[in-house]
Amino acid sequence: MTIKKCHNIGHIRTLAQKKLPAPMFHYIDGGADDEVTLHRNTTAFERFDLMPRMLVDVTAINTRTKVLETTLEWPVFLAPTGMSRLFHHGKELAAARAAAKAGTLYTLSTLATTSLEDVAKETTGAKMFQIYILKDRGLTSEFVQRCKAAGYKALCLTVDMPLAGNRERDHLTGMTMPPRFGLGSLMSFALHPEWSLNFLRNPDFKLANVAHRVDALAGGAMPLIAYANSQFDRSVTWKDVAWLAKQWDGPFVVKGILSPEDAKLAREAGATAVMISNHGGRQLDSVPAPIDCVAPIRDAVGTGLELIVDGGIRRGTHVIKALALGADACSIGRGYLYGLAAAGEAGVTRALTLLRTEIERDMALLGCADIASISRAHVIP
Ligand SMILES: Cc1cc2nc3c(=O)[nH]c(=O)nc-3n(C[C@H](O)[C@H](O)[C@H](O)COP(=O)(O)O)c2cc1C
Repeated sequence: MTIKKCHNIGHIRTLAQKKLPAPMFHYIDGGADDEVTLHRNTTAFERFDLMPRMLVDVTAINTRTKVLETTLEWPVFLAPTGMSRLFHHGKELAAARAAAKAGTLYTLSTLATTSLEDVAKETTGAKMFQIYILKDRGLTSEFVQRCKAAGYKALCLTVDMPLAGNRERDHLTGMTMPPRFGLGSLMSFALHPEWSLNFLRNPDFKLANVAHRVDALAGGAMPLIAYANSQFDRSVTWKDVAWLAKQWDGPFVVKGILSPEDAKLAREAGATAVMISNHGGRQLDSVPAPIDCVAPIRDAVGTGLELIVDGGIRRGTHVIKALALGADACSIGRGYLYGLAAAGEAGVTRALTLLRTEIERDMALLGCADIASISRAHVIP
């Protein structure tokens, strides 16, 4: 199979599995514990039906929308995902370039393998930076200043990661970061020579946004991942969110919200948007699917707080259901990472193009010529 022969995100996932050694594929694909939430994130969409209206003029479909003070050509953008070098040597730059070409926003993770400055320099298109409130508050504030200097449009604070979730597939496959060709995973690397040769030739795996701190703090001896893990702060509360929001005078997203109560607290702390997300089922298992949280949160907060839905989105109909229930936009993680793993920038472009084409087709079939006309009347729970 080639990327051109992929006709939906599921096909691209199959190709990604062929291209990647098992530890890398399952690092993308897996979730926490029994993966109940991971599975539910996508299947929950099936519980909502779409109700189309007939005889609406749908000659011209306009998918353009505006969130985070940014115009998007269509209502889906790229969620933050760490360590893209694991999946393709094109790294974050390949994904950010594909996002820019597709007229949408790219979110760079703190745990990226390309620095926020290099992504800003090397790619066009609007960008958001995903930040954590780290134990080292000085480094957290440093990120804010660096993002301002580099021209990032928005800041996205992830709050569902006081510590990493229990991802058992990573134990089973012998996943290490950076990747090591250990006995357990050797066979899998040998079976995927293209990835493995690229990695051996150009093993530029580093957490580029924090690398300078590791060198400064530990003379380069402290492994980057150990440093990153040691920086997750379990004591962070809403007071810290307000502290961060004040430093960033622009669109500010709190990512990882599932309850109406937390959405209201996020707004009080200075958020202009929340990302209704369970980290793609990678953190606490058995939490609700984001799509089930949209209507309750929209009803609780009214208008004035932007809602972004993220988790399990694989189809245009999923995006339309989220918008109909009250979301302003959606973001995808695995949907584009499978593309990156399958074919680098061309793979991300293919994933985004397929999803956008589905949305356009589905809007026409639903009887909606633009995003604003998609309403609760178009969805039946
Ligand atoms: C491989 C991988 C790495 C991720 N890294 C991060 C990260 O660094 N920061 C973050 O806030 N979320 C991270 N996420 C979560 C995504 O931002 C997003 O919430 C999730 O992927 C959405 O679910 P989906 O993959 O089903 O679209 C990651 C997800 C995956 C699959």
